[in-house]
Amino acid sequence: MTLDYQALEKALKSLERGLLVVVPTETVYGLAADGYSDSAVARIYELKQRPSFNPLILHYYSVECALEDVEEDERFLKLAKFFWPGPLTIVVNRKKESRVSSLATAGLQTLAVRVPSHPVMRALLEKYPHPLAAPSANPSTRISPTHLPHVLSYFDGCEQVGAFLEGGLSLVGLESTVIDLTSRKPVILRPGSITKEALEKVIGSIAEGDHTTSIKAPGQLKKHYAPSIPIRLNAIDVKEDEALLAFGSHILRGAKYTINLSEKGDLAEAASNLFRFLHELDHKKFSAIAVMPIPNVGIGKAINDRLMRASAQENEDLL
Ligand code: TXA
Ligand code: MG
Repeated sequence: MTLDYQALEKALKSLERGLLVVVPTETVYGLAADGYSDSAVARIYELKQRPSFNPLILHYYSVECALEDVEEDERFLKLAKFFWPGPLTIVVNRKKESRVSSLATAGLQTLAVRVPSHPVMRALLEKYPHPLAAPSANPSTRISPTHLPHVLSYFDGCEQVGAFLEGGLSLVGLESTVIDLTSRKPVILRPGSITKEALEKVIGSIAEGDHTTSIKAPGQLKKHYAPSIPIRLNAIDVKEDEALLAFGSHILRGAKYTINLSEKGDLAEAASNLFRFLHELDHKKFSAIAVMPIPNVGIGKAINDRLMRASAQENEDLL
């Protein structure tokens, strides 16, 4: 991908002025602000209508940069060396002298940090002197965007956004795996494309995340990433006024409209298509979205996690 230096310059200037910038990453598009500025970070919460108790991820150019804000930790360094730059967020203890906005961390003494791999985001992080706080670029509880048109459908014309950086389709298509190293045993707070098994190969045993009670990572809030029409999971039949989100080569017949996450049954391909396809099917002309079963292995677990949240009836965001 060739870099658009003019757009990059505009983005840098916007960040300096405390405005938000839409950034591409390999997982989903982000809504970035200067991570050291309370007023810039406040704009993220305002624009997304995000509950202020839900902390943000801090994005860095390198592990060395991240170490300015977080305590050194052996497992942190091992994971960083193996998986960064890439779709892994690590929760560690923040340094006392860290300048990260306490609004970004919702007042916690821990910090969620990540070094992304997308070349446009890396070019921005390399040039900007501070880390970037960035949640996914969607209003709270709506579907995360994996290409720029999807972001524009949410935020085009918003005066808080100083620049929109184009970066093509997000290759992974699901938000980063979040692992917490601050509890007695490491625990996965949000499943993603980097699986528990892959992480265990590097740092040993990891506890099963509690996806029901904890609000430690509000990404775990039941309702999240939701379309505005109902979603029906594990469909074994389909009604004629429904849209079908299919998977694999043996698809159900009879839907008003069908789109296939991966004809060859490839879970990584399905993950990269999921949010874009859900967004496309999120239309009042369908009574619901019926989703065929997705194998619950590897990245399939992260896909099912997002689908379950998207189909949840209760909106727990404000609990
Ligand atoms: O792939 C991604 O991670 C994308 C791109 C833009 O980097 N970002 C993203 O951010 O998904 P967001 O805000 O949608 O999700 C951040 C998750 C939330 O579930 C939040 O609760 C959790 O990280 N989190 C942030 N700081 C935390 C902390 N100190 N302790 C525990 N969880 C934390
Ligand atoms: Mg999000």
